Formats: sequence, structure tokens, C-alpha cells
Amino acid sequence: MTEKGKNQNLHKAKGSKQDEFYTQLSDIEKELRHYKKDFKGKVVYCNCDDPLVSNFFHYFSYNFEKLGLKKLITTCYKSKDMNLFSQNDSERAVYLEYDGDKNGNGMPDPKEIGIKHLKGDGDFRSKESIELLKQADIVVTNPPFSLFREYVAQLIDHDKKFIIIGSRNAITYKEIFKLIKEDKLWIGYGFDAGNAYFKTPHAKLFAKGVYDEKTGLVKFRNVTWFTNLDISKRHDDLILYKTYNPVEYPTYDNYDAIEVSKTKDIPVDYEGVMGVPITFLDKYNPDQFEIVGITKTWFGTATKTYPPQIQVSTNGKKSNVTKLNDGATLKLDAAPRGKTYYMVGKSYYVQLYARVLIRLKRAKK
Ligand SMILES: C[S@@+](CC[C@H](N)C(=O)[O-])C[C@H]1O[C@@H](n2cnc3c(N)ncnc32)[C@H](O)[C@@H]1O
Repeated sequence: MTEKGKNQNLHKAKGSKQDEFYTQLSDIEKELRHYKKDFKGKVVYCNCDDPLVSNFFHYFSYNFEKLGLKKLITTCYKSKDMNLFSQNDSERAVYLEYDGDKNGNGMPDPKEIGIKHLKGDGDFRSKESIELLKQADIVVTNPPFSLFREYVAQLIDHDKKFIIIGSRNAITYKEIFKLIKEDKLWIGYGFDAGNAYFKTPHAKLFAKGVYDEKTGLVKFRNVTWFTNLDISKRHDDLILYKTYNPVEYPTYDNYDAIEVSKTKDIPVDYEGVMGVPITFLDKYNPDQFEIVGITKTWFGTATKTYPPQIQVSTNGKKSNVTKLNDGATLKLDAAPRGKTYYMVGKSYYVQLYARVLIRLKRAKK
């Protein structure tokens, strides 16, 4: 299966079972070392975490004093057996509060951790969980991907700071992209080489190649950290060295923008709108660039609408489709080789992956 296919597999992770994958401690440590200054005197809430299994609970309880935390709250969903993965076997859940080491051994001992029962199932949207959320300064977790929109909307509604894991596909969701464009949410540091490994109790649900029997981990290429805490990389300028020419940077047929297929190739002197891959957001510095849009139909800035098209696949197979309107296109003089293309009348087009539309704030003359 191709990388794209594997990522689609994750995208399809809609069932609750496919929401069950668990973050590794090393990945939490790698991301959170960039936010150490943010935690002093703060209440941290992990609201999708079986406390004694979640590495988020582990990280914050063991680093409680080092980070200078005020309180750690963790709720688990449905299961009340805290020694197992979320079994979803109980409608009543527990939550846990930890306010630091009392006996001086520098470790969170069971006696120091307050285990309390919730009346309901610990759903992050429940009244009880929202009351706990209100106490929190920063929410840190890997929430269920299938509820990501709702999850983020709740954090924004309650004006909370957060560091959370999500699928990169979420960037193209209307609700999430709006927040990115308004500088209310951005991409964190991310996983090593873009590879995120998680533990799962439901290995069989994942395609071959995604689950590794040797390590017992699933690998996703399309997952990253999202935050609204200020991080230093957000203030680093991307070093640009290329200059614009119309051959290397063709103009889209249906958007008033040029195609820049690699973020590193953004021309330093172009004043107009440029379409860049979504991974640009890993390098986005709001002092250097303005985000003006995204090439998705719902964003509504396409300059034309195509009638139904004929799609010609790489194997020559032809089908009638209407896909061309959901993305930026390039018009070609002839049919391309080795690529899927589209025909409208006698014109040839290729469609590009979703592009973020950006502009340089200070293009060099
Ligand atoms: C991707 S897993 C991550 C678990 C843990 N945060 C971690 O990173 O190891 C998402 C977790 O959210 C839980 N969950 C699913 N629906 C939920 C809901 N409505 N409210 C709270 N938690 C939920 C699942 O049981 C699952 O354990």
C-alpha cells in the first residue's frame, strides 16, 4: 500500500475502535520540551486519558515539580479499570487529580493521587468534564480523531490553551482552517521525520504496513501536534533563495495564484498569492507570511467552475467525474505522461493536492 493509501486509512478512522491508539512517552517528551516555560503554576487537564495508562498522565505526574505545575487532572472515558486500555466497558468513568509529591520521593505514589468517580461516562463534552475543563489552564492530549472538530471547538469556546495531536487532514477542515487563518491555532514541532508511532489494542483494524507486529505499534505519516501556545519556531523566518519566473511557477487555471510545489522554493520576490503544500504550515511565521486561503471548494475563491469532466487514469481508464472543482488545477497543452489528468472538451488539466494560499508580507524587490 502506498503512503497515501496508508494515510487514507487513518483518515477513515471514524469508528470508536480506530480512535484507540496511544501516544508514546518519548514523543510527548520531544514535543513538550518546547513548552516548559508555559506550565509554571498551571493546571493541566488531559481529558481523553486513562490516567494510569496514558503517557500524558505519566509525563505530567513525573515532571510535576520540574515543570512547577499547580494541578494535574485526568479523565478517562467509559472504562473504570485504570490498569487497562480504554475498554469502554463501563458507562461510569473515573477522574484523577494530582497536586504534587507529598512524601518527598519525587514520584506520584498511588496514595497521593486522588481517584474520584464521575457520574457519567467521562465524555469530554459532558457537563462534568466541562466543569473540570473550566479549572484548567492548558489541555494536553491526543483526542479521538473522529471528534477532532468538536474537540477543538470546545477548547476555543472555553478560551483554553492546548497542545494536542491530530491528523494533518484536519488542516483542510473548514472549522480548523478558519482558526489557522485567524492565527488562533498552529502546528507544533511534530514527530521525528513525520513518522508517528502509537500503541493500539486493535491492531487488526489497521492495514498491513501500518501495524508492525515486531514493535506492536501502528505508524501514521499524517499526524502532527496542534497548539495555540507561542513557540519559538513560529518566529523563525524561512530562508528563501529562489526568484520568480513564470515557467517554474505556473499560474493556476482556476485560482488567482501561482503554483509553488515545494515550500523551500517559495520565490522571495513574488508579491501576489502563491499556492503551497499544506506542510508549509510547519514553517509558517505570521510575521513573514499572510495566509489568504485554501484551494477547497468551501473556501469559495475559485475563479471558475468546470462542467463535468473525463478523468483519464495512468492506466488509460476513462471515467466521468466532477472532481476538478475541489482543488487548484493547471491547464496543459497536451495530455501528460504517467499522471492522472482531466479533459473538459479538448482541454487538458491536472489537479493538485490541497494548497494553502499565502502571500509574502515583505516580498523583496
Ligand atoms: C487517540 S486515543 C489517545 C489516548 C491517549 N490520549 C493517548 O494519547 O495515549 C483517544 C482516546 O479518547 C477516548 N475517547 C473517545 N471518545 C471520547 C469522548 N467522547 N470523550 C473523551 N474521550 C474519548 C478514547 O477512548 C481514546 O482512549
